[in-house]
Amino acid sequence: MSISQLKILLVGVSGQLGSELLATLTACELIKSSQYSLDITDHNQCLTQLDKIAPNIIINAAAYTAVDKAEQQREQAFLVNARGPNTLATWCANNHAGLLHISTDYVFAGDKPLFQTYNELDPVGPVSVYGESKLLGETHVQAAMNKDLAIFRTAWLYGSAGNNFIKTMLKLTLGQPNRQFKVVSDQYGSPTSTLALSQQIKTVLEYNTASGLDASKQAFGVFHATSSDYCSWYEFACEFFELINIKHNLVPCTTAEYPTDAKRPGNSILHNQRLSALGIDSFIGWKQDLQRFVSRHGDDLLKASH
Ligand SMILES: NC(=O)c1ccc[n+]([C@@H]2O[C@H](COP(=O)([O-])OP(=O)(O)OC[C@H]3O[C@@H](n4cnc5c(N)ncnc54)[C@H](OP(=O)(O)O)[C@@H]3O)[C@@H](O)[C@H]2O)c1
Repeated sequence: MSISQLKILLVGVSGQLGSELLATLTACELIKSSQYSLDITDHNQCLTQLDKIAPNIIINAAAYTAVDKAEQQREQAFLVNARGPNTLATWCANNHAGLLHISTDYVFAGDKPLFQTYNELDPVGPVSVYGESKLLGETHVQAAMNKDLAIFRTAWLYGSAGNNFIKTMLKLTLGQPNRQFKVVSDQYGSPTSTLALSQQIKTVLEYNTASGLDASKQAFGVFHATSSDYCSWYEFACEFFELINIKHNLVPCTTAEYPTDAKRPGNSILHNQRLSALGIDSFIGWKQDLQRFVSRHGDDLLKASH
């Protein structure tokens, strides 16, 4: 089966990643979860709708992503991030469909010495409710399916749709140009655009559907999927303001100086070891990725933030 013959159900289509996937996977037949009002936390409704849609592949970009709020809304975070993926994986396993599921760097504790990277086999150990719920989602998916699944752990995601760190920093800075804003400079990761991740997902789909590929050689299991190189949140924000050519008043601070409800990993730099080993790692450096994002969306971001 070629990529153009795939009937893909895109779950979480209105989110940052979902909307970019919609624009990227144009070669496939794409069904939007919103057309069916699919709620992945409602097990029975979800199974009934999946029977109707009957996709070959589900891409699950839906999640509860409010990291700090999750500390108080534990049940809701687990419903969306663990029970939802379990339902999707169970349906896929029973219907010979594939599942591409998105996970996070926050499944790691982040206590590796700087700047050692995490690969797919490193022990997990989330330090937040969000991280725990996403890890249980991964566990459920892997327990339900032993093939036809790919879990992409990504990090520090940003895109033109929805909310993200750089959009927040831009709004704050434009709204109060004379105010100083503290940004954490001792947490490290790899900012990744939704475009880069969507293109990587497309590459994996093309690889898995390439004619003549032995089924045992297909890309399945857990993949780290982030742009290459790394930075702190502070460096990320400064680079963004330089590229978009806006004067800023950011000051670096430590995690201790910027307390949040959820604990975050200090070092969550991922290495895309398994994608590289297969020769299909399509990511570029985070700075190049950000530059591409600003050239495509900078003007719109500025208009929307004024
Ligand atoms: N954002 C990051 O920095 C980051 C970092 C690492 C990993 N990730 C992972 O990357 C993936 C995509 O994240 P994102 O930033 O694109 O998320 P997002 O913008 O917050 O979008 C999440 C989507 O999930 C949908 N959703 C929530 N609950 C649902 C439910 N019960 N049933 C069906 N859909 C539901 C939302 O729909 P509504 O809009 O209708 O509520 C929304 O479309 C997630 O798996 C996330 O954990 C994100």
